Amino acid sequence: MKPHTTPLIVGNWKMNPKNTEEAVRLTKEIKKRLGKVHEGAVVIAPPFLYTNEVSLVLQSGTKIQLGAQTMHHEVLGAKTGSVSGKMLQGSGVTYVIVGHSERRKEGESDETIEKQVAAGLRLGMTVVLCVGEQSRDTHGQYLSLIERQLRSALRGVSKAKLGNLVIAYEPIWAIGAGATPTSAEIHEMKLFIEKALTDMYGRNYAQKVSLLYGGSVTSKNAYELYHGGTIHGFLVGGASLDASEFCGIIQKVNTP
Ligand code: PGA
Repeated sequence: MKPHTTPLIVGNWKMNPKNTEEAVRLTKEIKKRLGKVHEGAVVIAPPFLYTNEVSLVLQSGTKIQLGAQTMHHEVLGAKTGSVSGKMLQGSGVTYVIVGHSERRKEGESDETIEKQVAAGLRLGMTVVLCVGEQSRDTHGQYLSLIERQLRSALRGVSKAKLGNLVIAYEPIWAIGAGATPTSAEIHEMKLFIEKALTDMYGRNYAQKVSLLYGGSVTSKNAYELYHGGTIHGFLVGGASLDASEFCGIIQKVNTP
């Protein structure tokens, strides 16, 4: 894996906040707190509806990038209720989260996720692929599940595209739960994912993929989970809706 010189923090706003004004206010607040220069990469992923307004706020004076929470793999067409990656790009989106457990729960299948990953990478976006188990068992079955999720989502991905791929390990039992794995468990999972990618692509290419952890990350546990887990950053849900918490997390990963 890459050295930990460029941490990546992605804020997943989910179906929040309640209106455009609030979304703009939150974006401005994060921008103000981070200032013009901050270490590493920061991404915020608002609901589709707020993308354009948030994009306007991010147009100048910040390195914060814009993300989306999912996308359709096709470009245009009879897909009621869908938004394509191409459309998102037109609004300034450079990162897309794919395969989040809450999208899988809404019916996005392994096959859909595979297509989304391929389409996002084809468009030149950075794809944040989420994997994670519902619960842990003592026989290590959850590890096979993670490997299956990876192999299925990356079926169509060539070595050449791996530099734009980020894997977010998000155990479902930790999301919004106030509970997290220990930093040692996160480190173990990092090694496991690294090994699976090495088996698929070889060591040199596997090292191009960044690995995030997501699930109940706060400014309080960020330092320990990041440094103890030796990961590249976080996918943050709830805490990304509070500018001071979110910036607190960013500060923690940039503290040696
Ligand atoms: P959480 O969500 O930080 O609120 O647990 C993480 C996520 O679902 O990406």
